[in-house]
Amino acid sequence: MRERDLRVLRAELGGSQEAQLKDRIFHGAVGPAAALHGLGAFPSSRGRPAAAAPDSPVLLSLQSKLQSWSKGYSCSGVVGRDVGQLLQAAIQRQSHDINVMVVVNDTVATMMGCRLGTKPCEVGLIVGAGTNSCFMEEARYVESLDDNEGRMCVNTEWGTFGDTGAMADILTTYDEHVDAGSLNKGKHRFEKLIGSLYLGEIARLLLVQLAQDKALHAGGTTPQLRTQGMVTALEVLNISEDQGGLAAAQCLLQKLGLQPSDPDCFTVQQVCLAVVTRAACLCATSLAAMLTHMRKNRELPQLDVCVGVDGDTFQCTATLVSAVDDSRAQGVAVVAAVALRLEAQRREVDQLLQPLRLAPRARQQVQALLQCEMERGLRQETHAQASTRMLPTYVRATPDGSERGDFLALDLGGTNFRVLLVKLRSREAGGICMVSEIYSIPPEVAQGPGSQLFDHIVECIVDFQTKQGLWGRTLPLGFTFSFPCQQKSLDQGILLNWTKGFTASGCEGKDVVELLREAVRRKNQFDLDVVAIVNDTVGTMMSCGYDDPNCEVGLIVGTGTNACYMEELRNVEAVPGAEGRMCINMEWGAFGDNGCLDEFFTHFDAQVDRVSLNPGKQRFEKLISGMYLGEIVRMVLVELVEKELLFQGRPCPALQTPGIFPTKFLSTIESDGLALRQASAVLQNLGLAASVEDALLVRKVCQVVSLRAGQLCGAALAAVAEKIRDNRGLAQLAVTVGVDGTLYKLHPHFSQHVQQTVKELAPRCTVTFLQSEDGSGKGAALVAAVACRIAQSRAAPATGQ
Ligand code: BG6
Ligand code: GLC
Repeated sequence: MRERDLRVLRAELGGSQEAQLKDRIFHGAVGPAAALHGLGAFPSSRGRPAAAAPDSPVLLSLQSKLQSWSKGYSCSGVVGRDVGQLLQAAIQRQSHDINVMVVVNDTVATMMGCRLGTKPCEVGLIVGAGTNSCFMEEARYVESLDDNEGRMCVNTEWGTFGDTGAMADILTTYDEHVDAGSLNKGKHRFEKLIGSLYLGEIARLLLVQLAQDKALHAGGTTPQLRTQGMVTALEVLNISEDQGGLAAAQCLLQKLGLQPSDPDCFTVQQVCLAVVTRAACLCATSLAAMLTHMRKNRELPQLDVCVGVDGDTFQCTATLVSAVDDSRAQGVAVVAAVALRLEAQRREVDQLLQPLRLAPRARQQVQALLQCEMERGLRQETHAQASTRMLPTYVRATPDGSERGDFLALDLGGTNFRVLLVKLRSREAGGICMVSEIYSIPPEVAQGPGSQLFDHIVECIVDFQTKQGLWGRTLPLGFTFSFPCQQKSLDQGILLNWTKGFTASGCEGKDVVELLREAVRRKNQFDLDVVAIVNDTVGTMMSCGYDDPNCEVGLIVGTGTNACYMEELRNVEAVPGAEGRMCINMEWGAFGDNGCLDEFFTHFDAQVDRVSLNPGKQRFEKLISGMYLGEIVRMVLVELVEKELLFQGRPCPALQTPGIFPTKFLSTIESDGLALRQASAVLQNLGLAASVEDALLVRKVCQVVSLRAGQLCGAALAAVAEKIRDNRGLAQLAVTVGVDGTLYKLHPHFSQHVQQTVKELAPRCTVTFLQSEDGSGKGAALVAAVACRIAQSRAAPATGQ
């Protein structure tokens, strides 16, 4: 017998060799996915985190493809196929009415079926004919999962450990023989050191060697001793026992046709002990590796986990709970029952969210519909029926860098009202320099009498001028006014209707510039020289256009949403002339107000619209922008609670409050990293006690709602890019979109959704997105600067806008 083999068999695996093996099993136990894949680890069922009982796992997939047979099985035509389906087919062939719900590995069934008091097991361990284990892994470490939240039970299939040679130095010649005589040669090498199917054979081969070496006094080998399977694992185990072990050894030797002497019985007992101890040692080492891995991945100083039996391993207290006879059956039943319940719930949730999902075809439809509405809005005879107003802005060119001077700017209509001083200098002289103040517009002012709103604006200008020492100077002013205005010139804008959170009376149908001038006159303290009124989309396009001359589109996705772009003047029927281009404020927020998008509105959208300040108006905006997304999510959550799919159906009065779920919650909940914890915290703050499943579901709702918004916005932008490309007869268009708005800038995934959809729907356009860092006030000043230049050049002859 080889010295090394003996050492190994005497379980001299302790100390460094054991530690090495432990490391090899779980590759140092961090960044586990690769190591687990090396082990052939398969995700099996989705579970919940630490404190949660695994009695409600979320089953990801009910498919179960057989990777390979092991132990004594090798039926043909099964490997690579779904075992559940094969069983279902067999049941149907026999005309039984049984539905196969789940296929689980025995380790998983054991884990699910065992518990210690109220404490559920999070590790399943099988040491039977074969050996294997499963454990609840952090989902973020399971690479094959899209999700980072919660846990999933991973079937390690650790029996295959060593199949790629990692155990070469601990395999003995007996192990090689056992493997050579097995049904799955070269496979499940670790299992063949531990599983009861193999222990008897290892012991037998050892005895053969001892007999050949004349180390057994009873004589040479007998035919029985040379027969495969003549020693069973049970015999080996019985012989290893202190009590009765020698008697069992005597029986075995007799069965093998040998004359047992006392020293022989003792030798046989030592052999069996070595075989069993090695198996136990390997198993414990692997379990220790797995527990350490779990502890590290959970970032715990101490892991307290239930496995089965009893014992302490490293920093982990593992309570080993013996499976009673029917544990596995119970486990399977539990999994099946939970799977049924969750499957039904998942279906219900999916059904509820389905209308909020946009198929690729729907995205194309939206793009095509907007393209059509754009045409209709530009044409005189169809303009009145078009939902996108396509308003001429009288801005005819993007900045060329020659704009100079000091300007005042107002920026009204976004989250903040700003007054700015913008100094336009040559790049050599320092470029553009801005100072600004933010003022609040309280809702009672935004929704009160118009005169009060404009008086408030004038008060803010006075305050700003005082702070900046501007008294006595009448600077030209560019006014970013983020509402739909009919313009006949740069410095005139008739408010068509308020949108977003504004409803100030007496303004619609009036020239906003005139309303501002009147308020200045009422104040009677200073003069204002308003030279240009621009929409925020136009201000943003101009602002970004200063840095990138390719910027010919302006996009806002903030409180509201809208876009502008440079259209060929020949297509703008409302403005005479056929040469050159003009920036068109699309007012796409109103897209669909004529019914053309009705098939895309869900009943959640209808509810949000109904309780808004402007029912029936800005329907597209209400699917996309920051003022409404939180409300859509709230409506969905209310229904999920009603259907008892969320918060276990407990009534949630907080959710009935309009505005309680602002859109910034979507950004928090959907952010990566600690998202689930943040989702729970957000819900907690609303007084909603959320389980992990609740938090996951709320996050799913947020994701569906923001994905739809991003895709709709992308589809609309694709229509704009395609229109520009088409106008210019280009095979490929390169264009930059200047973007602003809190939703676009702050939501973690919104911008990707938009950009991806544009790529998908406008493949012949290379669209670059440039975020405006300066707000649209800078753009308004640039427009004012051009207006001043034109005015001056009119005084002296020249060209320009
Ligand atoms: C700002 C622009 O930065 O973004 C405004 O200066 C614009 O003109 C606003 O209206 C849009 O975003 P939000 O999120 O403030 O509505
Ligand atoms: C609303 C306004 C529009 C503005 C947009 C973004 O849709 O009607 O003019 O551009 O919000 O602020």
